[in-house]
Amino acid sequence: MVEENQVYELVGEAGFRRLVEAFYRRVPADKVLGAMYPPDDLPGAEDRLCGFLIFRFGGPQTYIEERGHPALRMRHAPFAVTHEARDHWLTAMTAALDEAGFSDAALEVLRPFFDNTATFLINRLD
Ligand code: HEM
Repeated sequence: MVEENQVYELVGEAGFRRLVEAFYRRVPADKVLGAMYPPDDLPGAEDRLCGFLIFRFGGPQTYIEERGHPALRMRHAPFAVTHEARDHWLTAMTAALDEAGFSDAALEVLRPFFDNTATFLINRLD
């Protein structure tokens, strides 16, 4: 199993870009997620998630310099992250991972990371 901070070496900035592009392409049409994300700033949201993943998995720290500590639970507090929303988020991310064409070594780290983090971010009852 590769270490989390080696994933950036495996997929690179272009890989994370491809992943978040595939994820956000699915957001507007999703009946739960579509209403939660800023319709006029999806490119900005895409950049923020991409920058976070690059930092989190061993790449340049630009996200931290621009946004500070990720504090993900705090930053998600304004949004109703119910169990249903978590499932929709993970379904979109799983489809994006399937599309991104990453190696098994990268997927072995990323799939459980997204699953666990999404569960950790649940902050409302359904
Ligand atoms: C569980 C379901 C989730 C929902 C419904 C959700 C929803 C949202 C929404 C609505 C935003 C605001 C979009 C914006 O940046 O303008 C956001 C931001 C963000 N989300 Fe999530 N999210 C979820 C899970 C996750 C997970 C699993 C991660 C990490 C792997 C994540 C990482 C982020 C990051 C990094 C930001 C931007 C924070 C910032 O710098 O402001 N989210 N999320």
